[in-house]
Amino acid sequence: MVWSLVVWLASAALILGVLTQRFWEPWLLKKGFNWRSLPVRWYLVGFPATAIRMRWRWKQVCLINDLSISRKPTRAVVGDLAVRGTALKPVAPRLGLPRVTPKGLVVRVRLNPGQTPGPFLAASEALEHAWRVHRVRVTTPRRGELIVTVTAGDSLRGKTEAAPLPPLPLLAARVGKIEDGGAWELNLRRIPHWLVVGATRSGKSTLLASWVCRLAPQPVALVGIDCKGGMELGLFEPRLSALACNRAEAVGLLGALVTEIENRMAICRAEHVRSVWELPETERPVPVVVLVDEIAELYLSDGSRVSRDEAAQCSTLLLRLAQLGAGLGLHLIVAGQRVGSDLGPGVTALRAQLSGRIAHRVNDSATAEMALGDLSPDAVAVAQLISENEQGVAVTTVGGRWMRARSELVTTDQARAHAAEHASRTPSMPALTAAIAEGGKAA
Ligand SMILES: Nc1ncnc2c1ncn2[C@@H]1O[C@H](COP(=O)(O)OP(=O)(O)O)[C@@H](O)[C@H]1O
Ligand SMILES: [Mg+2]
Repeated sequence: MVWSLVVWLASAALILGVLTQRFWEPWLLKKGFNWRSLPVRWYLVGFPATAIRMRWRWKQVCLINDLSISRKPTRAVVGDLAVRGTALKPVAPRLGLPRVTPKGLVVRVRLNPGQTPGPFLAASEALEHAWRVHRVRVTTPRRGELIVTVTAGDSLRGKTEAAPLPPLPLLAARVGKIEDGGAWELNLRRIPHWLVVGATRSGKSTLLASWVCRLAPQPVALVGIDCKGGMELGLFEPRLSALACNRAEAVGLLGALVTEIENRMAICRAEHVRSVWELPETERPVPVVVLVDEIAELYLSDGSRVSRDEAAQCSTLLLRLAQLGAGLGLHLIVAGQRVGSDLGPGVTALRAQLSGRIAHRVNDSATAEMALGDLSPDAVAVAQLISENEQGVAVTTVGGRWMRARSELVTTDQARAHAAEHASRTPSMPALTAAIAEGGKAA
């Protein structure tokens, strides 16, 4: 009786909604809400089916993965013997009611006394398979409680194009997509320096290219150091204020950049402000973004004295830029395959200054650990799971949390076209180009 009434009312509401669509749809659009962009199929079919499957299989999955506990002791005395056994009725932790989100769902799990989140983190993959979902993420915002975030499908598959969203503030860039389908935004004002790691052909240079494309229309100076002969960043040459293509040139360029920030420091001191962002807009020097592709080329030496000296100079100068640059409008984006102490003593200190971290597919656990371990230990395992055919997919940390993301693919032609289109915005920095020429000559 009650059910027939509910079905009847729901049908009536649906028919009324369809008939009056031309009235409420423009009103919703005016309010900035486009209901057609919602994944209706997920809301109507996918979510209920997944929620039922989760509840149906919860006890069994918990039992198999040792996530259940027994309320009774597993030891007993039989005659003169103490025997140990398996409890007959283990209790699974309580699974809350799932809450639907546009790309998945969120559910709370209350831990039984004596349980820790560790086994649940380890069982994420088993849960993914049991629930037939793309990803299960377990976080522990409060003691005794887990939040399980389920992503239904992989939004990082296929083409990744940054969505047409409102314009971003200065130095912010949308470089791709994050796992839940939102835009992947990197903001140099919020996090001034970044480290990008990954094996060869994992997508580092593509991410840098996408970043450059998004920064190119903004009033910023882009400076490149690409010691692989400028093959990657050279595509953007018309939009770069300076480009160093070998280590000797890089030494000259980094030296000139240090001079530049010392000048900026003098300006700030004279104006009694603590950073260039406190200066009036008309007097503020242009922000400089320094992109370094393949950092190892700067640090490794062939044993000769010249090469050792150059490597040491690069290390000192880069560290200075990282330490002083943030408040003076100088930002570093450093990409490399490895950033371990094997490159030299200065590299660990530099890494500590690069607070934004992005790890693509890595060849060894040490690289993932170096890139993400100090900020988000959970993310290390996730970075190691990125497969070879997931080029461009990366793990990044935001405020101690990690997320998977994928940069948009920028082809060579697109890169060249973008640089040419925005070439007129390139701030001229003659001191930098002169220093590069000087460095090249000295080599
Ligand atoms: N976001 C992406 N989407 C799709 N393919 C990508 C993406 N990023 C990289 N690739 C592919 O991977 C290849 C290698 O990427 P690249 O950026 O040159 O790697 P790396 O600099 O780490 O060696 C590219 O030629 C491209 O085909
Ligand atoms: Mg590369």
